[in-house]
Amino acid sequence: MSEDKKLRSYDWFGKSDKMGFVHRSWLRNQGYPDDYFEGKPVIGICNTWSDLTPCNGHLRDFAEVVKRGVVEAGGFPLEFPVTSLGETIMRPTTMLFRNLAAMDTEESIRANPLDGIVLLTGCDKTTPSTVMGACSVDLPTIVVPGGPMLNGRYKGQCVGSGSFNWLHKEKQKVDNFTDEDIRAMEIGAARSQGHCMTMGTASSMACMVEALGLTLPGAAAIPAVDSRKKVMAQLSGRRIVEMVKEDLKLSKILTREAFENSMVVNSAIGGSTNFLVHLLAIAGRMGVDLKLEDFDQIASKIPLMANLKPSGEYLMEDFYYAGGLPVVIKEIKKYLHKDAITVNGRGIGENTADATCYNTDVIATIDKPFQQDAGIAVLKGNLCEQGAIIKPSAATKELMKHRGRAVVFETIEDYHARIDDPDLDIDENCVIVLKGVGPKGYPGMPEVGNVDLPEKILRKGIRDMVRISDGRMSGTAAGTVVLHVSPESAVGGTLALVQNGDMIELDVEKRRLHLDVSEEELQERKAAWIPPSPLATRGYVKMYIEHVQQADKGADLDFLIGGSGSEVTRDLH
Ligand code: FES
Ligand code: MG
Repeated sequence: MSEDKKLRSYDWFGKSDKMGFVHRSWLRNQGYPDDYFEGKPVIGICNTWSDLTPCNGHLRDFAEVVKRGVVEAGGFPLEFPVTSLGETIMRPTTMLFRNLAAMDTEESIRANPLDGIVLLTGCDKTTPSTVMGACSVDLPTIVVPGGPMLNGRYKGQCVGSGSFNWLHKEKQKVDNFTDEDIRAMEIGAARSQGHCMTMGTASSMACMVEALGLTLPGAAAIPAVDSRKKVMAQLSGRRIVEMVKEDLKLSKILTREAFENSMVVNSAIGGSTNFLVHLLAIAGRMGVDLKLEDFDQIASKIPLMANLKPSGEYLMEDFYYAGGLPVVIKEIKKYLHKDAITVNGRGIGENTADATCYNTDVIATIDKPFQQDAGIAVLKGNLCEQGAIIKPSAATKELMKHRGRAVVFETIEDYHARIDDPDLDIDENCVIVLKGVGPKGYPGMPEVGNVDLPEKILRKGIRDMVRISDGRMSGTAAGTVVLHVSPESAVGGTLALVQNGDMIELDVEKRRLHLDVSEEELQERKAAWIPPSPLATRGYVKMYIEHVQQADKGADLDFLIGGSGSEVTRDLH
């Protein structure tokens, strides 16, 4: 920083008036010397640590390591907590609270004397929520992803997070797993600190921020308990102080090119479908015009470069040892904007030029990818006028073009009550349609799209059927699952009008999702349709239902789009 440039925090700590006294004095109860506030960039360490977010359980220690780096570089670190969203515990779904956590992050940053921000993230929603909030303030910001757990281990086998829970019903009911087996699997699939170690949503979010240029190179894949993760945290602490001096704000990094890079990378790693709603929401905060169709146009023809569950075989620990995301970025560089700048001030191409692959079973070379055209496909048709998505790399090839009879569940409760009814009129060629699981309808758009198949079909050895809903699915899940149908059923989208016995056509290659019912018939059904009554009459959830946008727009609250900058004009007295 040039000596004459005033830090943002100067407005709090630099003043010689009464308010300057107030701002400094109370903070000095921590024992800071009286020159501690002079000219030092104040770095806010935004921590999503919580005992209720097990994936982020190690971030309290990490904050201390980041502080080490900040102090080393001449900054003044101040850690603060924000709403933390624990994927496996919060009900009805963390997605309902992503925007709340983003609001918390935004206001916490803006209201405080901070010059630069370190976001400590991990579990699925903790990355997009904090990034969204930070974007609406636009200070220099770096992300330290908490890192995945070590590979799951159970009876000599590698097990990935999520790869068992989605098979739970099958294992318990068909393979007769005992309670003891299940308990052993529980801890075997979670054998160290960190987030899910499949290429689920948390790993996809870590790779998303790395591809956007918001982390130091190589940060995403390092396991949480690997000492190199702490090195990365300390270096990030050092770097953010420099970023403040360079005024390297989020808006200088998060350009349209950075978003396009991130889409391409998500395809190449077989990343989560949740990536779409989160990236759309982040772009909305930055004022970058991104549309659902862009994901298909820019990223659906990208080859699959990472052999990671749920699309492939390996887990994040293997990915790190194979060279991690920098190798993928280097291999697919012809699809990327190489000059897109990152937090270290260099382009993504320069950062990854020397990346070396140590295991081509895990990360392919560009001439021999694991699969062609691996990106998420965006479907259109009368059943999803604003779009729906499917992840071909996690789907069954034979089902990607399919015509089947709809078996409709009006709500998740309806599904649970009837799916295993021996008399349910369903076979493997049917299409399972689940309504009422969209942003407004559930509310919060939970990860239920990959509903289990009926037990009687599982017993036949069938493991996949076409499933359609306005919900999401976990990034750890797989199947021929059409998700994010917009407009959702709760607002009267065509999905709301589907009836048992209707024929549905899915053609992924043609990007088509069609309900084979005449327009006149649909109009009649629409006229008779009664909207469901909202599930909340007060509080945040009421506000959420009233303001949440549809999935094709990123499911942010309408009044949160864009940013308000970092300025605060009034003081507290
Ligand atoms: Fe936290 Fe998967 S549950 S990352
Ligand atoms: Mg998840």
